[in-house]
Amino acid sequence: TDTLAILGLESSCDDTAAAVVSMSPESSEILSSVVLGQDALHDAYGGIVPEIAARAHAEKLDVAVKQALFKANMTLGDVTLVSATAGPGLIGGVLCGVTTAKAIAAARRIPLVGVNHLAGHALTPRLTDGLPYPYVMLLVSGGHCQFLLVEGCDDFTRLGGTIDDAPGEAFDKSARLLGLGQPGGPAIERAALDGDAARFRFPRPLLDRPGCDMSFSGLKTALLRARDAVAAEKGGLTRQDRADLCAGFQRAVADVLQEKTRRALTEASRTLSEPPALAVAGGVAANTEIRAGLETVAGEFGVSFVAPPLSLCTDNAAMIAYAGGELFRAGRIDDMTLAARPRWPL
Ligand code: KG4
Ligand code: ZN
Repeated sequence: TDTLAILGLESSCDDTAAAVVSMSPESSEILSSVVLGQDALHDAYGGIVPEIAARAHAEKLDVAVKQALFKANMTLGDVTLVSATAGPGLIGGVLCGVTTAKAIAAARRIPLVGVNHLAGHALTPRLTDGLPYPYVMLLVSGGHCQFLLVEGCDDFTRLGGTIDDAPGEAFDKSARLLGLGQPGGPAIERAALDGDAARFRFPRPLLDRPGCDMSFSGLKTALLRARDAVAAEKGGLTRQDRADLCAGFQRAVADVLQEKTRRALTEASRTLSEPPALAVAGGVAANTEIRAGLETVAGEFGVSFVAPPLSLCTDNAAMIAYAGGELFRAGRIDDMTLAARPRWPL
């Protein structure tokens, strides 16, 4: 038949994931999507330990695959294509996924496709909403921040991105500075609910410069200075001080992303006959204020705004299965020489 049953694997960071996606020429459907997190393993170290991550992937990948097949009511024999994240990411984990995919492809005699993790995120709005090309994707997570003009499954133009921290990283570090829990994004968003965003002055980095590049590490430094100034004056921080700091920080991030999104859509429009749709992916897309700002910009340009459900915005294997399927349909196929790449720009 013309319908693919694609098994996707994702293991480039700290989530071990497997998913089954069925893809016909007309439509795609997620039959299962399993994500096994590793938070508990890394918590004590204050960050992801690559060696621990790789070991956990090696132990858990086949569990994730079994669960994904079970939930899709399938066996390995029903799978017609296997795809895995081949980079960029922590090399030990990527190797686990690529090696597992090769083993399955060789054993079942089915084709193999290596997928760029960023392409997986960037193509997600097609899986969830059938979004046609072209569109501008803002990818905002703990590790990534870039604008991509997406014109095909292997046709990405980077319009700009962060020159230092990713926004999620800035949220996480800022939360630590205020003694809030991790992940920092949701913690800051919660604290900011009763905060006054205008009380502290936060910069709007790089807005004075043309283009779509962004910078977020200065916001974290501004937060640190403001925190210390308040603490020096009053001998400590009240709950309200924290709320105001969080609100000011969050507003600054949202403002920068909003204005740079305007520029990305403007820049993309220059090479197209009309402005393209706007889509977003990555954990930071969960933020209500940031999301609202992006939706406003889409409205200004009269284009649609697509934000996939959060479980598909963050790392998962359904996006890898889907991207593998699109690439395969476009003629791409890998063999046993497929390499795991720690760096792989789109
Ligand atoms: O995409 P993701 O799950 O993982 C990668 O970084 O690949 O994104 C996680 C990041 C974390 O930095 C987290 O603090 C941030 O997304 N995040 C948020 C929110 N929820 C998660 N940032 C701001 N506001 C949120 N509500
Ligand atoms: Zn990711």
